[in-house]
Amino acid sequence: MMVRVLFICLGNICRSPMAEAVFQKFVDDAGLTDKISVDSAGTSAYHVGEPAHPGTRRVLAHHDIPYDGRARQVNIEDTQNGKSYLIAMDSDNVAELNRRFGELPSLHRLLDFADHTSVHDVPDPYYSDNFDYVYRLVEDGCQGLLQTIRTNEAI
Ligand code: 4NP
Repeated sequence: MMVRVLFICLGNICRSPMAEAVFQKFVDDAGLTDKISVDSAGTSAYHVGEPAHPGTRRVLAHHDIPYDGRARQVNIEDTQNGKSYLIAMDSDNVAELNRRFGELPSLHRLLDFADHTSVHDVPDPYYSDNFDYVYRLVEDGCQGLLQTIRTNEAI
């Protein structure tokens, strides 16, 4: 059975597309492409249909990681379709998802899986432009998340 992972932030143009692209690379490198599906969405509809922010595209290109997704808003099916792992970028995203969809047992914050930082929320780079710092946090979280999934799902 396919393990389904959905990364969620506010706009789906900065942080969650970055996490989707990084995690997809980790999944591919681990030979798990046919076992784990990866997607991302935003709690807001502000940027629906747009490509990733230039800052996210620059950081991903620097690491030779492809991404060509477009922003979409998270919807009720995302929370009901047996998505195994809903991975929010920060506590505001968690609060908003719980407000809109109720308690979601499969909802976690990305950095709860990170081993090399004590930061729990991936900061929003939309205004601060700290895309390189965000990349390091996302990479740390994605590494731990893949380990956790491999252990949980025995893959
Ligand atoms: P993201 O960043 O949630 O990481 O995609 C943001 C993108 C857009 C806005 C805020 C954060 N905005 O207010 O439009």
